Amino acid sequence: MSVVYDLVVIGGGPGGYVGAIRAAQLGLKTAIVEARGALGGTCLNVGCIPSKALLQSSHHFEVAEKEFSSHGIKTNGLKLDLKTMLGRKDKVVVDLTNGIEFLMKKNKIDYIVGFGEITAPGEVTVKGDQKQILKTENIMIATGSEVAPLPGIEIDEKLVVSSTGALNLPKVPKTMAVIGAGVIGLELGSVWRRLGAEVTVIEFLDVALPGMDAEISKTMGRILKKQGMKLKLKTKVTGAKISKTNVTLTMEPRDGGKVDTLKADVVLVAIGRRPFTDKLGLDKVGVKIDERGFIPVDEDYQTNVEGIYAVGDVIGGAMLAHKAEDEGSVCAEIISGQTGHIDYNLITGIVYTHPEVASVGKNEEQLKEAGIEYTVGKFPFSANSRARTNADSEGFVKILADKKTDALLGCHIIGPQAGDLIQEMVVAMELSASAEDVARICHGHPGLSEAVKEAALGAGGRALHI
Ligand code: FAD
Ligand code: NAI
Repeated sequence: MSVVYDLVVIGGGPGGYVGAIRAAQLGLKTAIVEARGALGGTCLNVGCIPSKALLQSSHHFEVAEKEFSSHGIKTNGLKLDLKTMLGRKDKVVVDLTNGIEFLMKKNKIDYIVGFGEITAPGEVTVKGDQKQILKTENIMIATGSEVAPLPGIEIDEKLVVSSTGALNLPKVPKTMAVIGAGVIGLELGSVWRRLGAEVTVIEFLDVALPGMDAEISKTMGRILKKQGMKLKLKTKVTGAKISKTNVTLTMEPRDGGKVDTLKADVVLVAIGRRPFTDKLGLDKVGVKIDERGFIPVDEDYQTNVEGIYAVGDVIGGAMLAHKAEDEGSVCAEIISGQTGHIDYNLITGIVYTHPEVASVGKNEEQLKEAGIEYTVGKFPFSANSRARTNADSEGFVKILADKKTDALLGCHIIGPQAGDLIQEMVVAMELSASAEDVARICHGHPGLSEAVKEAALGAGGRALHI
């Protein structure tokens, strides 16, 4: 007789695999279905992990090339071995995805390789080496997202690449055009610029990283230009002509004007991602999707069909791995009869360029729009001793606090290790701390986190080192 599961998870990315582990921890008989032949989803296979591996390697290369000499370190004939760099990245991916497979075994979760389709309520049919029909009380959809295409521009993953192709270019292009100055465009654009490509980023809106605190976006744009990245803002790409060895893009100023062209060896299309629900059988069981293809869910992550839940990129909101993980975990808790909750205001956004950008809570523009009066505490890394010893002192910490109550409302950092520094502010905000609470915590010296303390002091008008 075939097993009846308590939960079948479709999709083995951060939402799905974490949901499966939490469900198994809570005693649910769980299976996870994944089509790509490796667990970890977009994030581990073609997203967060390989991109950060290349960001780290390319950062080392650039530092060795441009900064070692000022530390009194002489290098002779520094050379790039791209094959080894890409190989290291691939090994990191394989080690981590194997690690997830180990976690499935450890938690006694059945890992089923194949493409899952919901063929009836409580039934998932998996097409893999053989067809399998899984019976289950509950289904968690965690099928994630895919690259959003740009109409009229065909991605061949050779000359016109998505983020996936940009993680595997066989040689450093002489010139690279990136469409979209969002997170992927700036991270992967930075990788190839550091390795020697002349990179031009074309963005429809008027800043890089639109949606971030405007002062951060502006500073990022200035720093990127200083690093040698070209930014073409307020520009719309209207077409691409692919020849044997390069691509010619046609562009128009967003607000009207003369058509322009740009020739590049490689074009990276990075204009966002869209939910992936192809051939999932949603229409067969009546699960609704919205006009953008996302699956709407209630506060329990349940779709409009009882017993069918959804988490992660496929339900919309921030398309981030840590958001997907928390949703998977909370959804599993709810399915097993517990309660769970996520504070979406406290989901960090981190961009792993150099310097890094990190953001939590509200930014100045959002506070102004909401009519909330606030104080600003701002501290530059140029006045932080650790940043100076590290010769890595570009950027600042900005803390926003309620003018009347001093409650923390937001924190925005551009600077070294911003992605780790922000976590202190997330904890403080989660525990409803005030700026003064953070300012009165003793921070180790010399440390980058002292810039956070100083910004918190600054919100009360009493920064010490500036
Ligand atoms: P996914 O990770 O997309 O996983 C869904 C899985 O479901 C896939 O493996 C897919 O094969 C499988 N699947 C789909 N349909 C079926 C089916 N019917 N049957 C079986 N399997 C199916 N986020 C961060 O937080 N930090 C970062 O640094 C970061 N960097 C990124 C860099 C890049 C280049 C990209 C593209 C994304 C990055 N992201 C990052 C975003 C992050 O990868 C996603 O937010 C995250 O992976 C979403 O998790 P998920 O579980 O919802 O979906
Ligand atoms: P994005 O939404 O971050 O950026 C897309 C950019 O392209 C926007 O600035 C947009 O204005 C611009 N754009 C859209 N259409 C355009 C056009 N026709 N011409 C010119 N510009 C255009 O999307 P991106 O960078 O593709 O990333 C996708 C998702 O992956 C994001 O949601 C992000 O959260 C996630 N991700 C997260 C990372 C992280 O957390 N560090 C790293 C990489 C990706």
